[in-house]
Amino acid sequence: MQDNTFTSPVEINLVRLLSTLSTSLDFSNHGILRHHHRVALISLEIGRQAHMPTAELVELFKAAIIHDIGAVTWKEKLRLFQFDVESPWDHCQKGAELLAGIPDFKTTSAIIKYHHDHWYGDNPSGLSKSDIPLASRIIHLADRVDVLIKPDRFILEQRDDILKKIRAMAGTIFDPELVNMLRRRASRDSFWLDLTSPWIEQRLLDLLPHAGNYSSRNFLILARLFGRVVDSKSPFTYRHSIYVGSVARVLAEAAHLTAENCFLIESAALLHDIGKLAVSEEIIEKPGKLNETEFIQVRQHAYYTYWLLKQAVPGLPIAKWAACHHEKLDGTGYPFGLGKEQLDCESRIIAIADLFTALREDRPYRSGLAWPEIETIIRRQAMSGTIDPDLTLLLIQNRPRLDQIWNEID
Ligand SMILES: [Fe+2]
Ligand SMILES: [Fe+2]
Ligand SMILES: [Fe+2]
Repeated sequence: MQDNTFTSPVEINLVRLLSTLSTSLDFSNHGILRHHHRVALISLEIGRQAHMPTAELVELFKAAIIHDIGAVTWKEKLRLFQFDVESPWDHCQKGAELLAGIPDFKTTSAIIKYHHDHWYGDNPSGLSKSDIPLASRIIHLADRVDVLIKPDRFILEQRDDILKKIRAMAGTIFDPELVNMLRRRASRDSFWLDLTSPWIEQRLLDLLPHAGNYSSRNFLILARLFGRVVDSKSPFTYRHSIYVGSVARVLAEAAHLTAENCFLIESAALLHDIGKLAVSEEIIEKPGKLNETEFIQVRQHAYYTYWLLKQAVPGLPIAKWAACHHEKLDGTGYPFGLGKEQLDCESRIIAIADLFTALREDRPYRSGLAWPEIETIIRRQAMSGTIDPDLTLLLIQNRPRLDQIWNEID
């Protein structure tokens, strides 16, 4: 088994991390929309035309790449794809609230709050014209350009129609100066070709070469944010990822993993179900047992988790640790069917943390179980060889701490 012990601080590329994680916000009935990538790219092009300094471009990127984080359901995401969407401000407010308390995302929160404000005013915020933050005005314009792009038509054949429609709203819906900057930038073929290019992420990386890296501590902050987004998909899971993250950390500390591994494992645990954003809420919310077709749809989530995280944090084993939470030591789990030789300590910890949390939580078809029942079930599973027996004991020994955290996050 590979040794994945980290003793010195790891570094994670901010642009790659955010742009890959944002893909999880793009899932809908229409597959992966890549809306956030395109809005971030258009925003950066306008921001560069406006000569924004690098630090401001980074803030613009951070907001643009997750600007619709407040729109959780697939239904709401698709509604926002209508050009003349009525009352779009709810998801702006929700997104701003999600980010408000997060260190390093205060500016992002303020930008997202106003990203649908009309230039002329009449906004719930009460703001108009240059009182609306510049980055919010840019994202608004970029967002509306993107919803005008038709996926079934060649991009260069659409540009005149798109620009005409946008120009007609310069001075009313959109900041007229920004529309001029967009027009100048959009005169190049490459501006449009980049938007439908398979290398769009590389383009984002090229535009922000000095955006910097995240430490494992900052990564944890971001993981907590996305964990909360996943949890908000259903009232039954309103604290699922957050608790799995905490249980994993308690076990990692009890197993004497390094401080760096403890940060990384908590982040992996917080993100273990990020692939669930690729599953429709009708299935996740279904009151009652899932049928076979629905069940196999849900099972896909671990696979999506793997590929999302593999690209977000290449070079670190986070993807494997997070995505193996439904694997079993006897090889009967999914999605990879790995066995005990391939499942390292961190993957085993997250698997137990997830199982334990799921037993503790209410489900549409049963209430949360009490400790004695949970203990019986996990001891039985440890004996039958599906979960790690030593970690099972550690979990039981740490009951007071786990109870305390459970009550704190209720
Ligand atoms: Fe939006
Ligand atoms: Fe949007
Ligand atoms: Fe899961």
